[in-house]
Amino acid sequence: MQNGSSPSPDSMELTIGLVGCGIMGRGIAQIAALSGATVKLVDSREGASPSARDELIATFGKLVEKGKLDASAATSAAERLVAGKGLEELRGCHVVVEAIVEDLAAKKSLFASLENIVDAGAILATNTSSLSVTSIAAGLKHPERVAGFHFFNPVPLMKIVEVIGGFLTRPEVTDYLLALGRHWGHTAVLAKDTPGFIVNHAGRGYGTEGLRLLAEGICSVPTLDAILRDTAGFRLGPCELLDLTGLDVSHPVMESIYHQYYEEPRFRPQVLTRQMLTAGALGKKTGHGFYRYGADGKKEAIPEPPQPTQRPSSVWISKEQPELAERIAVLVTAAGVQIESGARPSEYALCIVTPLGEDATTCCVRESLDATRTVGIESLLDLSRRRVVMTTPGTIADYLAMACGLFGATGVPVSVIRDSAGLVTQRVVAHVVNIACEIAQQQIAEPQDIDRAVVLGLGYPIGPLAWGDRLGPRTVLNILKNLELQTGDTRYRPSPWLQRRAMLGLSLTHKEI
Ligand code: NAI
Repeated sequence: MQNGSSPSPDSMELTIGLVGCGIMGRGIAQIAALSGATVKLVDSREGASPSARDELIATFGKLVEKGKLDASAATSAAERLVAGKGLEELRGCHVVVEAIVEDLAAKKSLFASLENIVDAGAILATNTSSLSVTSIAAGLKHPERVAGFHFFNPVPLMKIVEVIGGFLTRPEVTDYLLALGRHWGHTAVLAKDTPGFIVNHAGRGYGTEGLRLLAEGICSVPTLDAILRDTAGFRLGPCELLDLTGLDVSHPVMESIYHQYYEEPRFRPQVLTRQMLTAGALGKKTGHGFYRYGADGKKEAIPEPPQPTQRPSSVWISKEQPELAERIAVLVTAAGVQIESGARPSEYALCIVTPLGEDATTCCVRESLDATRTVGIESLLDLSRRRVVMTTPGTIADYLAMACGLFGATGVPVSVIRDSAGLVTQRVVAHVVNIACEIAQQQIAEPQDIDRAVVLGLGYPIGPLAWGDRLGPRTVLNILKNLELQTGDTRYRPSPWLQRRAMLGLSLTHKEI
């Protein structure tokens, strides 16, 4: 504790004040009480704190029924929950966590009142997800004892908490909250007071790049989501995720982080979600967003398009990326189609290019191929659950059908997209990795903590820096450089963190001395 006089996080003497008994406040109170702290609940809404206490005790009962909690532990945790009537009752609390409305003035005013109530050594923690901790603390008598303690919803299940030091926060305060978060069973990571902290900053890449692909007319919404689920392992496609969160929440967050970073092109939102928000197509909560939802909340079923059965007589595969060509050759052979060995394709061969950060057109022109019978294929990511075929603007329907028949021959679904620099998955994953690299470069958090926070907070299949290492930092750099060249958009400029590590052959988690 900052003055050394308060109990350690695991002490039974520890008393936590919890202001705001909404969804987050109740979740934080639950894990605090179950970890041995006394929790005093306060809310400005009449009756909110006793009903939060009742609800928490009912939750403990359910956990006992499910065999997840000892009856005696539930009883003692219930005894440690105190429904307070007003802020005055928080006198003597060692840590006060606020989870009130997300409003700067309200949070500032609450902390100004609390300063006159709690002891000099008490910590004031905010669960804000989008406000600056420094701004909340500014103007207080003791801003050095204010820190961010950012949990995720639902708190007991999302086992990650970001601890944020404001500009004036003393390190003892963040150290204490890190230890407290860990004692409460969460992975606690330290972050600088910057827009979006770690998780909501790292998460800017996925949705905005997905929306950009839609804006470029590369593919349909269901195709985009299916490709990213099946070839990259995301649990939900970007549009499914936006529908779940609701555009009333996500669109303003996209805009806010973009503006807070002074119009950083990496975070640029798209027009589509602004229009959907205006139209009230918010997502699941309104029954209509990117998808339609039934009265039971279930997403409409969208069947896969029927797969053509045609096959090409022979296939010519570009050797520009030998390792990727080899992966594609395995699929072609499995479909029983002959691969040509000549330097140039024969007259009727299907021509296949394996772009890295480029579009099929560029690859086709560089090798002087016939655009009418050329397609690109995603060959970097997982090929076992879905294949992605990309046309050039000149590809004719017969050759597209042959390509789909070929790659779908073993029953694996095939998605068709229009020409796109870096196809779909490469560019989305490279963009996500690049943003994580920039978070590391700006020393917002430790490299390992960035990965842990993203996996736990966003549910990505792997941390973005580890993902970059798996694909190879040089490959990711190559994709981004090509994307920047082809689009002319500085959105894709590689982070110096990535560039230097790629050039030196170092891991993306490597820290400088
Ligand atoms: P909520 O609306 O469910 O609950 C807020 C509670 O605070 C209400 O019970 C309200 O009566 C009370 N309250 C409002 N102003 C108050 C005041 N001045 N004094 C005392 N009580 C007051 O909100 P929720 O979702 O629990 O969010 C709370 C905080 O947690 C916000 O800062 C939010 O940004 C943050 N947060 C929310 C997440 C979420 O997914 N809901 C995730 C992470 C952070």
